[in-house]
Amino acid sequence: MNLRKGSSAGAGTGTRRSARSGGDAVHAGVLVALCVGVWYTQALEVSVGKVHFVEAMNGSTVLLPCTYISCIGIKNLYFSWHYNNNGTMQKLCEAVIPAEGVEPHVSIYQPRVEFVGSSKNSNISILLWNVTFEDEGEYTCYARNPKEKNRNHSAIFTLIVVDELKEVDNTVTIIILSVLGGIVGLIIVIMVLKALVLFILRKVHAKNKECLVSSSGIDNTENGLSGSKAENKATPKA
Ligand SMILES: *[C@@H]1O[C@H](CO)[C@@H](O)[C@H](O)[C@H]1NC(C)=O
Ligand SMILES: *[C@@H]1O[C@H](CO)[C@@H](O)[C@H](O)[C@H]1NC(C)=O
Ligand SMILES: *[C@@H]1O[C@H](CO)[C@@H](O)[C@H](O)[C@H]1NC(C)=O
Ligand SMILES: *[C@@H]1O[C@H](CO)[C@@H](O)[C@H](O)[C@H]1NC(C)=O
Ligand SMILES: *[C@@H]1O[C@H](CO)[C@@H](O)[C@H](O)[C@H]1NC(C)=O
Repeated sequence: MNLRKGSSAGAGTGTRRSARSGGDAVHAGVLVALCVGVWYTQALEVSVGKVHFVEAMNGSTVLLPCTYISCIGIKNLYFSWHYNNNGTMQKLCEAVIPAEGVEPHVSIYQPRVEFVGSSKNSNISILLWNVTFEDEGEYTCYARNPKEKNRNHSAIFTLIVVDELKEVDNTVTIIILSVLGGIVGLIIVIMVLKALVLFILRKVHAKNKECLVSSSGIDNTENGLSGSKAENKATPKA
């Protein structure tokens, strides 16, 4: 609100500045609209990142990532991690972050869980040590910000436990490579087709030009003929 007032006042003072402050007003307006929009839809956003799953070898230690973004700031943000154990939600850890930048005191209910997040970068990730096949499944990162009427926000991260990582990695890379190869092949085919079509078009065009040239040549001869006719007509007159 203040931003909009300030910039409109700036626009009023002089015509020289009007263009720039107009831009500022637009920027401020966009920012306000964004924030209000985010506020109404979700003031707090919880995310496990772009990839929603991880494949880990049994016996390894795996990071279960989770971060939050808040438009209006946080106060006493409550968060927890749950494991979906065949339908029953098993609480792994929970804590309250009193304010931005204040590290939480995390209560842990699973001995192999370690909190590795930091409120400094809005990170509430955990580590799961010595993964077993029973650990496979869905892990829910859950957060609640009392500043926004305790609306619930959560994100699900899936853990897949495998015996040997290399095999899976190979199949994934093979799939990626074959898809890439297919796309590159398709692009090449499209380019060749395009070149061919362009070549044919050029040839057709050239032929049309030749036709035009020859027809204009005929025109010329006709003109010449008429000209000569005119001359012929002119000569008897003279
Ligand atoms: C993973 O599981 C397999 C089969 O149960 C077992 O033979 C292997 O020792 C395990 N590896 C680790 C690192 O625990
Ligand atoms: C999971 O739950 C279903 C029914 O809800 C049950 O039939 C199944 O045995 C359970 N599996 C395990 C591994 O506990
Ligand atoms: C993980 O396993 C290793 C070896 O079995 C053990 O020394 C370590 O304490 C375990 N860590 C946790 C957090 O359970
Ligand atoms: C969160 O913190 C962990 C541990 O420090 C780190 O590995 C991870 O990359 C962080 N995640 C993000 C999104 O910053
Ligand atoms: C948030 O989730 C908790 C526990 O699942 C529930 O008790 C509470 O009513 C939920 N709040 C809202 C606003 O949905």
